[in-house]
Amino acid sequence: MKKDLVSITDLTKIEIEKIFDLTAKQKSGEILDTPLKGKTLTMIFEKPSLRTRVTFETGMTQLGGSAIYLSPSDIQLGKRERVKDVARNLSRWCDGIMARTFAHETVVELSRHATIPVINGLSDREHPCQALGDLFTLKEKVARKPNHPSPITDLTLAYVGDGNNVCHSLLLLCGILGIQMRVGCPEGYEPDSDILEKARQSNPNTQHPIPSIQVFHDPFEAVEGSDVVYTDAWTSMGQEEEAEERKDAFQRFQVNPQLLSKAKQGAWVMHCLPAHVGEEITEEVLDGPQSIVLDQAENRLHVQKAILTTLLKTSEK
Ligand code: CP
Ligand code: NVA
Repeated sequence: MKKDLVSITDLTKIEIEKIFDLTAKQKSGEILDTPLKGKTLTMIFEKPSLRTRVTFETGMTQLGGSAIYLSPSDIQLGKRERVKDVARNLSRWCDGIMARTFAHETVVELSRHATIPVINGLSDREHPCQALGDLFTLKEKVARKPNHPSPITDLTLAYVGDGNNVCHSLLLLCGILGIQMRVGCPEGYEPDSDILEKARQSNPNTQHPIPSIQVFHDPFEAVEGSDVVYTDAWTSMGQEEEAEERKDAFQRFQVNPQLLSKAKQGAWVMHCLPAHVGEEITEEVLDGPQSIVLDQAENRLHVQKAILTTLLKTSEK
């Protein structure tokens, strides 16, 4: 049986912990083998990318396999031929598909018809590899905190900005792992209600006196006392026509020194990147001492190597 990673909800808590363990071992060099020797990952991109493309391709190379990049114009997914046919053809030649699409339904359709694992490299609904890399980064950070190693479940993560794909995957992952998450967004830009519902239902800490997942329309209230302040673009890829309207709606939601001062002292600043400096985040915060954005970017490579190893090895044809 092949296994996909289309949504964070495709993974159980145990599977996530196994991926994090393997990530740590591969990253530290404790495991140095090439389990994907002779295997090929096809990468379909409907949108631009720096991190996702480079980390998946580098990851495959380091694991002994190879990756093929298909740009939007190469296959014109769903236009030149049906998504279903692309999935079925690739399944005859390759060992895995990674897809970055506009509609989430396109990744779902690829996974429905492919007989090889399908990994979501960002859709308009989710960005699961990003969230996994981010929570692995936080796990490393809390473990290395001088004199204060603590479990990630003690953390409160404030996400300030659009209730978008990145926010959705973080919500679902924080839900499964039992981490408190406070979303601060303007009215009308909340995460999807079904994602909030799933994240709340899966959170094992629902008995806690403070609700595990909360939504605020005041950024200062959302950030108050948090250990992590996370933000992302106000306008995601595919929403370019709404850019001006969004700039107005999100003005109060910029992560700047004033907003950051409401979080715990030394709170970590996170961003999936690319950053729009001067919009959702100021330069001094993005490049400042509390920023861990490059650790997040680096860990995309390590966590995806563990995902690739897990899915491509266990779904052997
Ligand atoms: N964070 C992220 O997915 O970056 P890219 O869009 O560059 O792949
Ligand atoms: N929310 C952003 C993330 C980019 C990595 C987008 O979808 O464009």
